[in-house]
Amino acid sequence: MPQWTVRLRLTLLYSGLFLISGLVLLAITYVLFRDSTGVNVIVPEGSRTQKTGPNVELEIRYHEAIQRSTDALHQGLLRTVIVLAGMTLVSLALGWLVAGRVLRPLRVMTATTRQISERNLNERLALTGPRDELKELADTIDGLLARLETHVAEQRRFAANASHELRTPLAVTQSILDVARNDPDRDNGELVERLHAVNSRAIDLTQALLLLTRADQRSFEREPVDLSLMAEEATETLLPFAAERNIAIETAGGPAPTIGSEALLLQLATNLVQNAIVHNLPESGTVWVTTGAGPQGATLVVENTGEELAPELVATLAEPFLRGSERVRTGQSGVGLGIAIVKSIAEAHDGTLTLAPREGGGLHVTVRLPAA
Ligand SMILES: Nc1ncnc2c1ncn2[C@@H]1O[C@H](COP(=O)(O)OP(=O)(O)OP(=O)(O)O)[C@@H](O)[C@H]1O
Ligand SMILES: [Mg+2]
Repeated sequence: MPQWTVRLRLTLLYSGLFLISGLVLLAITYVLFRDSTGVNVIVPEGSRTQKTGPNVELEIRYHEAIQRSTDALHQGLLRTVIVLAGMTLVSLALGWLVAGRVLRPLRVMTATTRQISERNLNERLALTGPRDELKELADTIDGLLARLETHVAEQRRFAANASHELRTPLAVTQSILDVARNDPDRDNGELVERLHAVNSRAIDLTQALLLLTRADQRSFEREPVDLSLMAEEATETLLPFAAERNIAIETAGGPAPTIGSEALLLQLATNLVQNAIVHNLPESGTVWVTTGAGPQGATLVVENTGEELAPELVATLAEPFLRGSERVRTGQSGVGLGIAIVKSIAEAHDGTLTLAPREGGGLHVTVRLPAA
C-alpha cells in the first residue's frame, strides 16, 4: 500500500485534472471536426454493389472520400489519445516535482520542530520567503516556542530561587547549632530565640510556596465571594499591626461580588494590605483600601504612602523572590512572594493585577476580578 502523503495526493490531483481537461478538449474537438467535414453521414455498406448507372461511379467515389475522411479522423483520434496518455505520464512526473517543491518548507519545519526539545528551546524555524500560509504557520510555531522558552526560564529561575531561599534558614540553623555545640557553657536562651525566629521564617516560606502552587494549579472550589468583605477582614486583622507602626488605614467603597475561593481571596487582600503597611513610610503613613463593582467586574484597590518607586522597579515586583529596593535582608524583610501570590491568585480567578507607582511615593495596586 502506498502512503497517502500530501505530495502523492497533490500529484494525483494535478495529473487527474490534466487528464480530464485533455479528454474533454479531445471530445469537443472530435465532435466539431466531424460536424465540419460532414463525415457523420452514415452510409449503409451494401448499397454500393446493387446500384448501376452513370451516377454510380460518382457515388462510389463520394463514399470512398467519406470513408477516407472517417478513417483519417479515427486515426487522428487514436494518435491524440496516445499522446494524451504520454502527456499524462509527463504531468505525473511534473506534478510530483512541483508538489515536492511546494511542500519543501513543510518538511524543513517538521525536521526542525522534531529536534527542538527542552534543551534547545531557543531555536526557531525562522522560515524565509513570501508571506503565505506556510510562513504564517512557521511564525505561529516560533511564537509558541518563544512563549514556552520564557515559561521554562521562569520556572527554572523560580526553582533556583526557591531552593536558595530554603537553604538560607537551614544554613543559619546550622551555624546557630555549631555555636551552641562549641560553647556548652553559653546561655542558650538567646540561641533558642534565634532558632525559633529562623524556623518561623522557613515555615512562612514553605507555606507561601504551597499557596503559590495551589493558586497556579487552580485546584480550589469556586463560590460567590464578596471581595469587600475579604478586604474588610484583612484590614481588621492587620489593624493592630498598623497601629504599632503608626499607620492609618482608610477603607471606602461598596460590595464587590465575584466568584472564587474565599480563602485565597482573603489571602490576596491580606498580602496587599500587609505590604501597604510594611513597605510604608517609617512614621505616620496612610493606607487606602477601596472596593467596588463596575462594568469590568469587582475591583480592589490598595494604595499606600511610601518612598518613591521607579516604574521599572514596579514592573518587576510581581516576580517571585524580588524584594524591591530592600535587597539586603533585614530581620523584617519578607520572603518576596507576597505579590507573586497575589498575581497567581488573581490570574487563577481569571482576573488581573496592576501595579503602578503612586504619585507622591508609594504603590497603587489594582486587582480586577470577573463579576459574580
Ligand atoms: N505597598 C507597597 N508599597 C511599596 N513597595 C511595595 C509594596 N508592596 C510591595 N512592595 C515592594 O515589592 C517587594 C515585593 O513584595 P512582596 O510582597 O512580593 O514581597 P515581600 O513583601 O518583600 O515579602 P513577603 O513575601 O513576605 O510579602 C517588596 O519587597 C517591596 O519592596
Ligand atoms: Mg509582602
